Amino acid sequence: MHKEFERTLVTAALPYANGPLHIGHIAGCYLPADIYVRFLRLKGEDVVFICGSDEHGVPITLQAKKEGVSPRQIVDRYHELMKQTFRDFGIHFDIYSRTTHPGHYQTASEFFKVLNDKGIFQIIETEQYYDEEACQFLADRYIAGECPKCGNPDAYGDQCEKCGTSLSPMELKNPRSLLSGKPPVLRKTKNWYLPLNLFQKDIEQYINTRKNWKPNVMGQCKSWLEMGDGLQPRAMTRDLEWGVPVPLEEAKGKVLYVWFDAPIGYISATKELMPERWKTYWQDKKTRLIHFIGKDNIVFHCIIFPAMLMAHGNFILPDNVPANEFLNLEGQKISTSRRWAVWVHEYLEDFPGMQDSLRYALCTNMPETKDNDFTWKEFQLRHNSELVAILGNFVHRTLVLTHKFFNGQVPNPSSFIKEDLHALSECKAAIREMAGCIEEFHFRDAIQKMMQVARIGNKYLADMEPWKLGDTQEERKKAILYTSVQITAMLSVVCEPFLPFTSEKLKNMLACHHLGWNNLEHDHLIPPGHKFGKPEILFRKIEDLEVENQIKKLNEVKNKSTTSEPEEKPVNEISYDDFSRLRLIVATIEQAEKVAGADKLLRLTLNDGKEKRTVVSGIALHYTPEEIIGKQVLLLANLAPKKLRGIESKGMILMAENSDGKLIFVAPETKTQNGAPVK
Ligand code: 2FM
Ligand code: ZN
Repeated sequence: MHKEFERTLVTAALPYANGPLHIGHIAGCYLPADIYVRFLRLKGEDVVFICGSDEHGVPITLQAKKEGVSPRQIVDRYHELMKQTFRDFGIHFDIYSRTTHPGHYQTASEFFKVLNDKGIFQIIETEQYYDEEACQFLADRYIAGECPKCGNPDAYGDQCEKCGTSLSPMELKNPRSLLSGKPPVLRKTKNWYLPLNLFQKDIEQYINTRKNWKPNVMGQCKSWLEMGDGLQPRAMTRDLEWGVPVPLEEAKGKVLYVWFDAPIGYISATKELMPERWKTYWQDKKTRLIHFIGKDNIVFHCIIFPAMLMAHGNFILPDNVPANEFLNLEGQKISTSRRWAVWVHEYLEDFPGMQDSLRYALCTNMPETKDNDFTWKEFQLRHNSELVAILGNFVHRTLVLTHKFFNGQVPNPSSFIKEDLHALSECKAAIREMAGCIEEFHFRDAIQKMMQVARIGNKYLADMEPWKLGDTQEERKKAILYTSVQITAMLSVVCEPFLPFTSEKLKNMLACHHLGWNNLEHDHLIPPGHKFGKPEILFRKIEDLEVENQIKKLNEVKNKSTTSEPEEKPVNEISYDDFSRLRLIVATIEQAEKVAGADKLLRLTLNDGKEKRTVVSGIALHYTPEEIIGKQVLLLANLAPKKLRGIESKGMILMAENSDGKLIFVAPETKTQNGAPVK
């Protein structure tokens, strides 16, 4: 634990209660959070692990509408399912609450009132789409219309799913309400805005002083802070029915924005868990607050929630937000609505008692720095060639031989040779490294270090070959099996954060439930004469047929999927049509200058054959303005214009990145006229 802290409060994103949990949820945030918390608990630290269902917001009401039931029915159903699934899968929260809990309504309302009483909010009147037949304002997702970019007639008010463009409802042509099918009208409404612009400086200072944040998280925060004119006021109230009512007489009929109430859910759940002590975890500077989330939640946890906490004034701020990227499934994006997923509760039915096999596959392939892909074949391979063949094999051989030679009792060797001592010290070194990796949120490396212990044990046994030793070498047999038993005991402790069910089995087999992290520094975890418990099978092999059945199940979903929804494209593949929509041309840099206040940005003036255009490019750490004037470049000319630091950038120049991360110009081999197409 970092010296300045005495305790840790860990939260995992509150999942929307609009569908069952899938492997993307688990790999994205619940598994890393669970490993981290289990590790701290193992070390005896003061840690509390908070989660619950996010039961408001458009995802819930959309699902309710789809199923023709009330939002309440949806959240009741999925809250229970998710709670049970987490428990069955060994994700061990101290509390799994929900945002429809009355205590949460009270906490969220009080939080809002404090900000309101402090005069934080700006009340802004805007025009919003209103459905006169359904008598309600329309959330962005409830409006459809023609995409201004690609002409898709069924684009939503927040995004066109055909071309991927983010939209606002006002940009849609011929908008229609998805509730009544009628064109909506514009109606004036007032909402309460959090003036994030006024927090820009404090948030910048906060972000810039964070230590050890992951580059993907830092990168997203910086780009929000540097985007356009910086942070903008954001509405914290909505004209919807489903949500926490805004606790003001003059805001009757409005609810809190789901991203206002959901993170307060972490606070409400802590209160529910520890009514007397919750403040210690949220208001004492000696508490370290860590949010585990997926990448789509970064801005809410790193900018908006901290701004809310700053505005309130009584709270500590998140110390780290180790967000993961996304997990794909068999080359395609996981999607609840398309049913393209491995549902955890179904996995548990199909592979009973094999939680750790999936935990292992998801941890070794965790999308820590980039999106990753889960395939059933790799799941099988990892299980059979690592869990069965390395960990299972080592434990099995140790236990069988100890039972055979020494009646299931730890032998008492009179001396050791250097190989015995070396194996033990190598294991201890791997364990120290494993701990360091977990502390830095490098869970993939950490689980490799844990497996390294089993590898060391396996190799040691294979080299020593105790099964070949005759009766005259009784002392060597004792030392080898004694050493192997100690390594097995280490494993029973250190595998717990990753493979809790396996740890439990191992501890049963060795009868060593008393062992903890503190014992690991000793070579002698289990004394001579100690009697083992009952042997069990740790891992059985996964047969081809089992994974073929899973693949078949997925393919059935694909075949059943209605033609009205566009087919999900393989993640890394674009069509020729997509490619042909890129306008790539040759251009020449005529002017270049630094952008004030942004270390990485250069403002370039390009001659594209027709006109001069401004492009803001993130190459300032690699080139000075002087050295690039006159260079020819390849320009993506029809990229939507974007404001960076107040400068409108029209297009993007293409650069190659070498293995040191240096950006290199990509240009025609010989001088070419500006505007020449690149095909
Ligand atoms: O993305 C989601 O699933 C959100 N329900 C996460 C909320 S996290 C927190 F703020 F509650
Ligand atoms: Zn479109």
